[in-house]
Amino acid sequence: MSNFSTNTNSIAPVGQPHFYYQDQTLFVEQLSVKALAKEHGTPLFIYSKAALKAAWDSYQEAIDNRDVLICYAMKANSNLAILNLFAQWGAGFDIVSGGELARALKAGADPQKIIFSGVGKQTWEIKAALEANIKCFNVESIPELSLIQEVASSLDKKAAISLRVNPDVDAKTHPYISTGLKDNKFGIAMEDALATYEHAATLSHIKIVGLDCHIGSQITQIEPYYDALERLLKLMDQLRGKGIELAHLDIGGGLGIRYQNEEPPHPRELIGPTLNVLQERGYGHLQLTLEPGRSLVGNSGVLITEVLFLKDGETKNFAIVDAAMNDLIRPTLYDAYHGALAVEIRDSQTTTYDIVGPICESGDWLAKDREFALIAGDLIAIESTGAYGFVMSGQYNSRPRAAEILVDGNQSFVIRRRETIDELFGHELIPTIS
Ligand code: LLP
Repeated sequence: MSNFSTNTNSIAPVGQPHFYYQDQTLFVEQLSVKALAKEHGTPLFIYSKAALKAAWDSYQEAIDNRDVLICYAMKANSNLAILNLFAQWGAGFDIVSGGELARALKAGADPQKIIFSGVGKQTWEIKAALEANIKCFNVESIPELSLIQEVASSLDKKAAISLRVNPDVDAKTHPYISTGLKDNKFGIAMEDALATYEHAATLSHIKIVGLDCHIGSQITQIEPYYDALERLLKLMDQLRGKGIELAHLDIGGGLGIRYQNEEPPHPRELIGPTLNVLQERGYGHLQLTLEPGRSLVGNSGVLITEVLFLKDGETKNFAIVDAAMNDLIRPTLYDAYHGALAVEIRDSQTTTYDIVGPICESGDWLAKDREFALIAGDLIAIESTGAYGFVMSGQYNSRPRAAEILVDGNQSFVIRRRETIDELFGHELIPTIS
């Protein structure tokens, strides 16, 4: 136990000016989190529109009106309201399924700014994407290329493609979210890339437009990007030698965010220098494309949860809260750190708690060893849950999924209402078996 009156569980509330304390109470933009939780219940994902815009603007500042297309990797947070904001701001979208295609179109995406990534595209998904007239398929294998050729030919369309190559660089991130190494399932091996392009060039319903790579996620150092770029440039020179010209280069997503004390690169450290290198090497005419997900949404959201019970264990104290691993799986899946803030700071003695959910698994934890002065009924904000939060949530233990709200100044909007108990089993059928 220790005594302190300020909240030291986080260096700064998600490093954003849009989350702050006023009179020891947490605010999102102009609204009190306590009031929002009272109105909408918990667990509750709250997103700040201003924080989303600030993240978008950090890319725009780096782009500085040059020919760069940001295709938001919508897997990070695919709520229609959030997609709609990005579409309004001019974003393209990086999709990985037919479901994401439908969501993006529903949210107002420009199909000509949609790129389709993913290692396992199915016939119906390829067909839907061709019918929607998307910008490009990022092709990850030769069998996939053949399937796209076949589907495009059946529709009498030409599919614009880029090959996702695997540059075999170490992004120095968690093994589950590192994708650019040889032993990952992603991309076409560098040594096979030239031959695959040559083969693609012979296909009647395929049009080569780009080259793509994505080396991983939550990347906090810039060097792996430049290692990858060098390898891509080598391949581009070889392609040029064979008369294969590209219209764009896609360097993927992956820029990290601050969860604890990371200092990830700003988009300007990636975009400006990459454009300069392209210019110097004779590729200044190419459009540069990026697929950021986490860095556009991660620090714009918090997950609000209520303390149900405090429980003193023999070696640990537990704050049992109403959010669980079904709502936010990142801590237990990746051993990921998320800041945890008291929504109202109490000036009383603190205790070290593990913040755990009600699910019947020891892995059901959200944060470990955090100092809090708490009583049952208090609210806790789990930080940086705008990316890979709600989208990875589920209904394990028959827990309805949380509500999501968007705050804009002094207004809040429900952007996904809380699931009801009936919705938990609404898709299930009991057969009549005697
Ligand atoms: N492009 C491709 C092809 C991807 O696979 C990904 C993410 C992105 C772009 C966006 O990466 P970002 O900018 O968000 O780092 N669930 C994990 C992250 C998985 C990332 C999967 N791919 C997590 O919670 O950390």
